[in-house]
Amino acid sequence: MKISFKNTTQALSKTDLLVIFSRQGSKVKLPQGVQVPPLALKSFEGKEREMRLTDATGGPAARVLLIGLGDSKTIDCETLRRCGALATKKAEKTHSASVSLYFDLAVGKQSEALGQALAEGAVMGAYRLTHFQSTAKPTALKRLLIYGNKEFNRGAKRGQIIAQANCLARRLKDTPGNLMRPRDLVSEAKKIAKAGSSLSVKIIDEKAMARLNMDALLSVSRGSCEPAYLIHLIYKPKNKSTRKICLVGKGLTFDAGGISLKPSGKMDEMKYDMSGGAAVLGVFKALAEIDVDAEVHGLVPTSENLPDGKAVKPGDLVTAMNGLSIEVLNTDAEGRLILADALCYAKEKIKPDAMIDLATLTGAVVVALGHELSGVMGNDQNVIDDLIAAGKRSGELVWPLPLHDVHHEEMKGKVGDLRNISSPGAGAGSSTGGAFLSNFVDNIPWAHLDIAGSAWGAADRDYQGGAKGTGVGVRLLFDYLQQS
Ligand code: BES
Ligand code: ZN
Ligand code: ZN
Repeated sequence: MKISFKNTTQALSKTDLLVIFSRQGSKVKLPQGVQVPPLALKSFEGKEREMRLTDATGGPAARVLLIGLGDSKTIDCETLRRCGALATKKAEKTHSASVSLYFDLAVGKQSEALGQALAEGAVMGAYRLTHFQSTAKPTALKRLLIYGNKEFNRGAKRGQIIAQANCLARRLKDTPGNLMRPRDLVSEAKKIAKAGSSLSVKIIDEKAMARLNMDALLSVSRGSCEPAYLIHLIYKPKNKSTRKICLVGKGLTFDAGGISLKPSGKMDEMKYDMSGGAAVLGVFKALAEIDVDAEVHGLVPTSENLPDGKAVKPGDLVTAMNGLSIEVLNTDAEGRLILADALCYAKEKIKPDAMIDLATLTGAVVVALGHELSGVMGNDQNVIDDLIAAGKRSGELVWPLPLHDVHHEEMKGKVGDLRNISSPGAGAGSSTGGAFLSNFVDNIPWAHLDIAGSAWGAADRDYQGGAKGTGVGVRLLFDYLQQS
């Protein structure tokens, strides 16, 4: 889909569908030259998400769609995101090849943020994954034109890029596990790095991992024919950076549980176990086009977790890059093993000022927070607070979970230094998972986002939802990077 922008003061271009956004209680203001049958506007109240489609009787648009935004007081970014998605969804339904979104309401200081949200919604709402279906027709929608004032369009341009990055993360996630293997994530990372002059990528293969003593990571891929990789993406800003931030994303392209095999019921969903990695790749796709002040490093340890004769067994002892030995009491708690070595690598080779990992780490976080929020914990309240604030602004909500001494205590080993699961009945599975990870970050300010609930299966919000992946983390972390 080609996306362009125009000021509302400019003449309208020809379009198949013109979408006009309107507030509740105020008269619909049609742009100059647009004509609709008189009855078409009657009884349209402008309630939030109310829609009215009509053929135009004259002017540059074939059809006109009115979308209500609701009461002025309740219009926020989420309203615009949802209404943007309604617009492109209706454009597809009406087989429109071009759609224009017309936003001509005085919203003052909020203009730029609302422009970003509208473009995000429009682009995310147009996300499809139909190319695996032989009978599915390709979408007719080829062009999106957004009309707003200068500030609104500045936000919309940014929103379009961030939404495309979100859609990339979703495509990587929704692609079946046999087509999105660790090596495929590596190819995707290389493609992303090529797209921006400020980006570069290093790939650490299993031989290099062995040299770095990353036995925790290597123990996870041992049961699979597919080799593991550690992807290291680097963004360098044009001007000298003020801060170095490292993002680490769990990249299990399939998690069968290993020898501690998962039940078969929903095992197919474990293609989503690379959602953290997908979000990191998405952030770098956006960094290819939008500059931020910080130097950003993205690490994606990627592997499959399968059972075979060589697979790591319950009770085996492995040693992470920092020398800590770990009893692998449950091979299904593998995310923390691959993250352990990635965090050690970050600390030793990158030495960031702050480090954030995101991972579909525990089923427990789904019980605690459901599918709408990500859990956050860490060793630095500033990083945690900044993420919670970024969650509020981006709409990808984040909720704090505790990391207490008792959780750290639970992860101490009997045979080795650590164990990878807590004792039966200890509960607080997300916190004990976070406590395990804290052993590999030392004193670097760090936060861990558990996205096992928010990565897929969220409620329908027009621009995302349902059984598919959400791409969670891309909008959140990009917002965080823009503020830091
Ligand atoms: N990938 C899973 C976590 C998960 C479960 C994500 C359900 C989304 C939905 C992770 O590797 C895992 O299996 N964790 C175990 C840890 C346990 C063995 C301590 C879990 O949560 O059951
Ligand atoms: Zn697992
Ligand atoms: Zn997993």
